Amino acid sequence: MPIITDPLRGRVRPTPSHSDEEIVRALGGPRDWTVLTGAGLSTDSGIPDYRGPAAPPRRPMTVQTFLSGPAQRSRYWARSWLGWSHMDMARPNAGHRALARLQPHGIITQNVDGLHEDAGSDPVIDLHGRLNRVICLQCGELYDRDLVQAHLTRLNPDFLTDLEVDPADIETAPDGDVDLEATAGFRVWDCPACGGLLKPDVVYFGESVPAVRTQGAVDLVDSASGLLVMGTSLAVMSGLRFVKHARKHGKPVVIVTDGPTRGDEYADYRSVTRVGDFLAAWERALLGGTATVPGGVVSGGVPTAAV
Ligand SMILES: NC(=O)c1ccc[n+]([C@@H]2O[C@H](COP(=O)([O-])OP(=O)(O)OC[C@H]3O[C@@H](n4cnc5c(N)ncnc54)[C@H](O)[C@@H]3O)[C@@H](O)[C@H]2O)c1
Ligand SMILES: [Zn+2]
Repeated sequence: MPIITDPLRGRVRPTPSHSDEEIVRALGGPRDWTVLTGAGLSTDSGIPDYRGPAAPPRRPMTVQTFLSGPAQRSRYWARSWLGWSHMDMARPNAGHRALARLQPHGIITQNVDGLHEDAGSDPVIDLHGRLNRVICLQCGELYDRDLVQAHLTRLNPDFLTDLEVDPADIETAPDGDVDLEATAGFRVWDCPACGGLLKPDVVYFGESVPAVRTQGAVDLVDSASGLLVMGTSLAVMSGLRFVKHARKHGKPVVIVTDGPTRGDEYADYRSVTRVGDFLAAWERALLGGTATVPGGVVSGGVPTAAV
């Protein structure tokens, strides 16, 4: 098992740099902003985060573990098979819906749940892929997760009865799987086209984001006036890099996350409010005329001052 050190070690929840009213006024119109989101956007939809205050210590799946042998693959797919219905049933919450109405310049999400798209946001870059897609590691064919789920159910008709635990009592983890150790004997489904290994089309720890996807996200940052970061600890470098990139190019960075982040020192404005409440305040300000409407005239403009 690779050792994953805690990139947030020693960091504490910061105090806000300004009141939310001041931050919302400084934001002005949503069209100026590319929004980078993380697991905190989806906690209100019932999908746990990794590093929130209530999150137990997690050992996220690494690609090295996934590829290390049949037992590990059985383990992953058994846990994922049990957790899929919970993930599949998750619906966009008020925060996703507010972002869809606000229509920012674009959204880059580290989430793999697809809830921004379900809420109607566009464009959205799924930096770490999508859990509802499965990819063949040999031929690259993509499969719908529901199809894979049906085949896993067919291949493992007695797995649930043999478990002797109620699936409802098993805790769902952030990756859409469950905490379960008794996974021996679970049969996996291989690619019907070439017999290759199937893996969820998500970027695991130890993998890189495909270059073309990263470039698309960089373009979204470059073509916006500023970067608004919401509900992410920025513990993962593939997210933090956009914050550093924005700062390097003189773009303002606003962070709204209810916990410490690895990018706090780069933020011009820092709020620790829950994202749903913050977005509601932004919408209220737009309606009340203290900021601008989507597509309207930029009034407050983009902040330039550092904290
Ligand atoms: N929903 C998902 O798809 C999902 C869920 C968990 C993890 N992941 C994956 O794991 C990685 C986790 O990194 P991350 O930074 O996104 O998550 P993280 O768990 O490291 O950080 C989430 C942060 O958001 C805060 N938070 C939680 N709910 C909030 C709310 N309602 N309002 C404001 N802040 C809130 C937490 O306190 C924490 O600081 C990602 O790369 C992602 O691929 C995905
Ligand atoms: Zn294949």
